[in-house]
Order: sequence, then C-alpha cells, then structure tokens
Amino acid sequence: MIPTVTLNDSTTMPQLGFGVFQVPDDDAHRAVATALETGYRSIDTAAVYGNEAGVGRAVAESGLHRDDLFITTKLWVDGLSRDGVRPGLEASLERLGLDSVDLYLIHWPAPATDGYLRAWEGMEEVRELGLVRSIGVSNFLPEHLQRLVDLGGTVPAVNQVELHPALQNRETVAANASHGTATEAWSPLGQGAALSDPVVAEIAATHSATPAQVVLAWHLQQGRIVIPKSVTPARMAENLDATRLVLREEDLEALDGLDRDARTGPDPKNFNG
Ligand SMILES: NC(=O)c1ccc[n+]([C@@H]2O[C@H](COP(=O)([O-])OP(=O)(O)OC[C@H]3O[C@@H](n4cnc5c(N)ncnc54)[C@H](OP(=O)(O)O)[C@@H]3O)[C@@H](O)[C@H]2O)c1
Repeated sequence: MIPTVTLNDSTTMPQLGFGVFQVPDDDAHRAVATALETGYRSIDTAAVYGNEAGVGRAVAESGLHRDDLFITTKLWVDGLSRDGVRPGLEASLERLGLDSVDLYLIHWPAPATDGYLRAWEGMEEVRELGLVRSIGVSNFLPEHLQRLVDLGGTVPAVNQVELHPALQNRETVAANASHGTATEAWSPLGQGAALSDPVVAEIAATHSATPAQVVLAWHLQQGRIVIPKSVTPARMAENLDATRLVLREEDLEALDGLDRDARTGPDPKNFNG
C-alpha cells in the first residue's frame, strides 16, 4: 500500500510516485507501463519533458481505472501569462490523451518577469473548468510563494522542489508548511548521487535495506511527497518497497546532517527558462 497525503484542497495524493524527467517518449511509454504494473499509481511528467504522449499511451493501455491514477504535468515558462495557461494545459491533455490531470504545476517561477503571478489566475480558471483537480507550483522560493499567497486567491496545493540529502532546502520546506502547501521532492535520490554516501550505506546495512530505500524512507517519514525516477524494473520495485522501511530517530538525524546546499539543477532565483 502506498501512503497518501491530503492536500490543502482536501484531495489526496500518493506520497510516492514515479518521475520521467530525461526519459525519451518511447522509453517513457515502456517505463510507465512497467511502473504501473509494479504498483505505482502517481506519474510525474511535464510539457517540457517531451514524453507526455508516451506516458498517456502507457496509461491508456494499463487498463487501470482513471480514478485510481494520479497524473501530474507542468506548465513551461513560455505559458506564464493569464491567457497562456489554458492553451498550455489543453496541449498537454491532448498529448496525454486525458480529459483532466490531477495536479498541474507552474514548472518554474522564472522571476525575471512577474508572469507567474499573472499565470496563477489562469491556473485557478482551469481548475474551475474541471481540467485539473489541484493546482500548485514547482521550484518556488519562499518569496515567490509569499507573493502568490498575497494575491489572496488559492494557496498552492504543492510546491515541488529539488530536495535530497545534499540539498535539504529547509527554508522552502518551512515556508511551504506555513502556508499549508505540501512539499514534493524532485530528484529525491539526488539523481543517484545520494546513494553512494557512506552514511546512507551504513544505515542501509543496519536495516538490510538498500541506499535508495533509506533515502526514500527518510523523505516519507518527514511527510514529503517523492517521485523517484528509474527505467530499471528491479529498481522501480525496490523504490516502491521503501514504504515498508521504518528508520530510527538517529537514522533520520544522521541523514539530516548530510545537507551541504549542493544543487544538481538550476537555482530558481535566476533561472528563467
Ligand atoms: N520540477 C522540476 O523542475 C523537476 C526537475 C527534475 C526532476 N523532476 C521530477 O523528479 C523526478 C525524479 O528526479 P530525477 O529523475 O532528476 O532524479 P532521481 O529520481 O533522484 O534519481 C534518478 C537516478 O537514480 C537512479 N536510480 C533510481 N532508483 C535507483 C535505485 N534504487 N538504485 C540505484 N539507482 C537508482 C536512476 O537510474 P536508472 O533510471 O538508470 O535506473 C537515475 O539515474 C523526475 O523524473 C521528474 O519527474 C522535476
């Protein structure tokens, strides 16, 4: 059983899902089909990944009921205007072959302009139209989130940010919590780099678990949503099994101690697409 989190709009979301960043369309079709067979029910894609069609084919062929799936996609920075959201979303839905997605995120704040503030009204509109169930953001720093909340409308359900042992993003996590916005960790395994850390290896050995399971359990026990990516079937199953691992308080503290502010991706402060 995959645990769920209840978002601030009262919808529920699987706490562990499957990411497909950097997976070409045909490979995404295969990987998502295997992930769904393995037991994943939440899939994280984005317009800019170029693989929504492959994800959509796997979903259609899975035979699973749409209500049992949780599909996330994201609006790229070229759609960051009041009127850019709906066409961006409709193009994603067309590629996915779906009538709606469960979670739609503004992919990056791209703060050189205030486009993300204008786009938020468009996000609220597509939700009212029933084209998405929940709306949220990604890569928002506390100041971006605060400006959005200050608009006085919908508070983002989710902020999906880079977060792994080497980059724990504590200020953003605290800001999310203060607004009731769920934190979703992207690159939860640090793109694999976290798995070779000796502290992680030692904890894994103590629990007869794998390093990936230790890192994922660390996220899950602190309430974060995670979306690890793997195109390797055995790893997909291994990662899903992290939901069974219970770490001790001292393990969590040791993993908390690995933070060294080391990003793998761009800094949202100055990334504009
Ligand atoms: N919002 C954003 O801006 C943003 C940015 C980046 C990512 N994301 C989302 O977050 C998802 C995950 O992030 P990510 O793909 O960057 O990195 P990640 O999930 O932290 O790591 C993926 C890497 O770890 C390897 N791996 C996975 N499970 C493993 C295991 N059990 N043992 C050993 N190696 C393992 C994978 O290898 P193999 O695939 O070869 O097995 C792959 O190289 C993405 O797919 C995407 O959906 C969002």
